[in-house]
Amino acid sequence: MYSTTEQRTLYELSKKLLYTPQADLFGEEASHRAEELRQVIRYHEWRYYVQNAPVISDFEYDQLYKQLEAIERQNPELVTPDSPTQRVGKDLVEDFVQVPHLTPMLSLDNSYNADDLNDFDEQVKKLCKLDKDADVEYCVEPKFDGGTIAIVYEHDSLVRAATRGNGFVGDDITLNIKTLKSVPLRASFSKHGISKAELRGETLIRKDIFEKINKKRQEAGEALFANPRNAATGGLRMKDPKETAVRGLEAFLYQLGYAIDHEGGNVLKKFSTHDESIHLLRQLGFKVPLHQPEPGNHLEETKTCRNIAEVIDFCQAWQDFRDEYPYEIDGMVVKVNSLELQERCGSTSHHPRWAIAFKFKARQATTRLRDVEFQVGKTGAITPVAKLEPVPLAGVIVQNVSLHNEEFIRSKDIRIGDQVLVERAGDVIPYIVKSLSELRTGDEREIHYPTHCPVCQSELVKPEDEAIWRCENAECEAQVLARMIFHTSKHAMDIEGLGESTIEKFYKLGWLHSIADLYRLDYEKIAQLEGFGEKSATNLRNAVEKAKRNPIHRLLHSLSIHHLGRKGSTLLAAEVGHVLDLKDWDLEKYQTIKDIGPVLAQNVFNFFQNPHNVELLETMERLGVNLRQTDEDKKADVNTEGVLYGKSILFTGTLSQMTREEAEKRAAAAGASIASGVSKHLSILVVGEKAGSKLKKAQELGTVEIWSEQAFLEKTKD
Ligand code: IVH
Repeated sequence: MYSTTEQRTLYELSKKLLYTPQADLFGEEASHRAEELRQVIRYHEWRYYVQNAPVISDFEYDQLYKQLEAIERQNPELVTPDSPTQRVGKDLVEDFVQVPHLTPMLSLDNSYNADDLNDFDEQVKKLCKLDKDADVEYCVEPKFDGGTIAIVYEHDSLVRAATRGNGFVGDDITLNIKTLKSVPLRASFSKHGISKAELRGETLIRKDIFEKINKKRQEAGEALFANPRNAATGGLRMKDPKETAVRGLEAFLYQLGYAIDHEGGNVLKKFSTHDESIHLLRQLGFKVPLHQPEPGNHLEETKTCRNIAEVIDFCQAWQDFRDEYPYEIDGMVVKVNSLELQERCGSTSHHPRWAIAFKFKARQATTRLRDVEFQVGKTGAITPVAKLEPVPLAGVIVQNVSLHNEEFIRSKDIRIGDQVLVERAGDVIPYIVKSLSELRTGDEREIHYPTHCPVCQSELVKPEDEAIWRCENAECEAQVLARMIFHTSKHAMDIEGLGESTIEKFYKLGWLHSIADLYRLDYEKIAQLEGFGEKSATNLRNAVEKAKRNPIHRLLHSLSIHHLGRKGSTLLAAEVGHVLDLKDWDLEKYQTIKDIGPVLAQNVFNFFQNPHNVELLETMERLGVNLRQTDEDKKADVNTEGVLYGKSILFTGTLSQMTREEAEKRAAAAGASIASGVSKHLSILVVGEKAGSKLKKAQELGTVEIWSEQAFLEKTKD
């Protein structure tokens, strides 16, 4: 259908159009742009629907679509019957019997931020001839990302179910839908004066069930589904309904689209709000978005908001909650609650004017890999970092992404110059999903892994059981710098005002050669530096002086000993009166400490056997850095009399009355041990706000006591 060259041209054109959107085009310019947009949109529809392999993200597609819509709105003479804006959607295959919907199933217009929602609200008020300052009530519910369905009930029986199809006709999937346990086969519509009704909704697969299905398919050597939506839409269209039944599909209903009484009169008119009609569906036994959060969810699925400001807050809260929700959703849907106002708003041929989708920030984008840089970490690990053409993704601009190691690059066949798909889900660090090899021009270059350190040129080594190449020269400039940056960081010595850029600056000025130099800075010279002055120099001095008194667990952690983290440092700190006692320890002695394994033991042992390191610590002590065990370092004596003695406890979610650290201290003081995860060994889970998967897991186990923050406070009160 499209040659490789054509595909490349269309892809490049899409990017150009995306990054140079133009508003208010008229005449020749408008007509040219509209044609370009149509071409690329058609291409992406083909990639998405036919090839099942999109090369741009949904968000980018929506942006292109919106541009075309805007031009066509301003220049109606440019609308061609075959423009992508003139169809409602498509997913028809010929093998199913096609059936018409009782009323057309429209699409939704999209919004992406608070401004868009405010514009929508303004537009609604204009259409309804309401005062500018009036409050319009809206229902807000998740925008489910599954397969859209329409179900018809006649004389209380489910008589037909169809996919959305092109919005006017869909595929008859009655038998498949009948296998869904969440869809009642009979419902007492007639009690409410309804003899025929059409309901709209979405079929979904829970994310955890989806994972299980894919795992099974993998074991059976079958092709995997790309996402829960593909599994759900595919599941609806199985030739054999038994196949649908095993997919664990559920149906959420979110609209009563059509309802008539036995004389053909419109019953919809009897409802005054969307809420009311959904409430009826719930009464009749359908699964609908709920006003009360389900156990484990801290947000309600739907909310009736008094005005657009409440809508915006609710949408934003859901954007953060999205990953915790058991179903895949790609946004929220905002609907005018009053059916009378809905009617006043009306619809375009594409979407109702009384509803809008609020799309969450895209989690995927494509961009070009410009180059790869090899960075040297504090322990000499070499990390390849992809330098990308900057691209907006889930609210940030992404341009540097770790490629982890050589195997990662090789297994994904990533090359310099490639178009790559980047993803950023929730709080996860962005990563490269894949390279789009079909868009290669032939100019791409393979990534050559260096054999020597890019900074100090010493030969790199790779221990057999590790995936990572290392520079073993501890004096390597890059390592020295990275160790200093880590030394002052929050979890280590926590020296405010000595961040990465300041350290780099001082280093370039020749003031820093080792971490000891951080404790003999010349504050007078610093005060003279551009951008500093007396005040910041004094602040810095105070921060450094404070750090000198840190407990030794922080100091141990700050030394960048490979594998020695916060926990290991705390364990060691509890065992020694002075840090340099460790130079007299033999390997076995380390291993007598619970939770210190042989690799870590060896690393710490080596560190303290190296005279350079001992000298460094001695110098630091002379400069005033504390090397003696403090009270905080001493092993917290377990309180065998405490109310929580013998119990293990874990905190999850956001606590409102204390920090996590304070809570853990309080629990420890009451004799509890702090667990690291939910397992059958856990006794108590304390649940704060926005608790997610841990709570769910604990509930599933059924052996864990679940406490609120308040209950925890009360039980541990002296
Ligand atoms: S209401 C007339 N509510 O998203 C439009 N639609 O991209 C009424 N969708 O076509 C639709 N969740 O298939 C509505 N809570 C929800 C929805 C929802 C998902 C689908 C629906 C629509 C598509 C638009």
